[in-house]
Amino acid sequence: MKILYIGDIVARIGRATVQKVLPDLIKEKNIDFVIAQSENMSTGNGLTIKAVEEMREVGIDFFTGGNHSFKKKEFYPYLNDPKIPVIRPANYPENTPGRGWAIASSSFGKILVINLMGITFNGPQLENPLKKVDEILEENKNEKLSASLVNFHGDSTSEKVAVGYYLDSKVSAVIGDHTHVPTADARILPGGTAIITDVGMVGPADSVLGVKKEIIISRWLNQLPARHEITTSGPCQFCAVLINISTKGKAKSIEQIIRLVDI
Ligand SMILES: [Fe+2]
Ligand SMILES: [Fe+2]
Repeated sequence: MKILYIGDIVARIGRATVQKVLPDLIKEKNIDFVIAQSENMSTGNGLTIKAVEEMREVGIDFFTGGNHSFKKKEFYPYLNDPKIPVIRPANYPENTPGRGWAIASSSFGKILVINLMGITFNGPQLENPLKKVDEILEENKNEKLSASLVNFHGDSTSEKVAVGYYLDSKVSAVIGDHTHVPTADARILPGGTAIITDVGMVGPADSVLGVKKEIIISRWLNQLPARHEITTSGPCQFCAVLINISTKGKAKSIEQIIRLVDI
C-alpha cells in the first residue's frame, strides 16, 4: 500500500498548490491513501470545513493537526464529529476538542493514524507523547490494521528522531512536521519503521514559512509587533513523502517528494 503524507498546507495558496499537484501525483505514483497536515489550511491559522472539503475533492483522505488546529473556534464541532476525518495531537488535555487518533478505512484495510505534539518547546503542560502513544497502541492492539502512522508535530529534530527509534517496529511510519522546512533524512529504521524528521510545507517558496518575508525581517529589525500576512502568489513548494508499506505493515520504502509550481 502506498500512503502519501503531505506537510503543512499553508492557506489558500497552499490549497491551490495541492489542487495543481496532487491529482496527477496520485496517478503518477499509484497512491492508495493520502494524509495531510491541516493546521494552517485556512488563512495560515487553523482550518475551516470549507478548506477540508476542498482538499478532500482533490484526493486528500485524512488530516492530522497541530498547535494551530484550535485557532478557529467554529471548527471545534467538526473536530468533535467522528465523521470528519480530522484529528489533533493526542497529548493535549482531556477537555480539548477533537480526537488524537482514529482508524481510517482504505481499499487495503484499516489504517491507524495517531497525532502527537512535541514537548521540547511546547512545554510541560502537554502529556508525555511517548506514554500517550503507548496507551493508544495498547488500546488498539487487537485491531486488524494494514498500516499505522504517527504524525509527530514538533520543533526539535532530536526529539523527533528519538520518537522514531522509540516506535521502530511498533508502527509503519513516524512522520514529523511543524517547522515547515523539509529535512533530508527520510529512511527506514532497522525494525521496519519509515521516518522523516520534517516533511516541510505546501505553500509560497518565496516567504518565511509561508509569511511575507518583509514582515518577518522588519519584526526582527524593529522588535515591534506586526500582523502576519501570507504571501499570495509566486513559486510554491509542495512537500510530501511517499511510504510504501508491505502486507505485514512494515515500511518497504520512503521517498521524499518536493515539487515547485507557479501559482
Ligand atoms: Fe504549521
Ligand atoms: Fe505547527
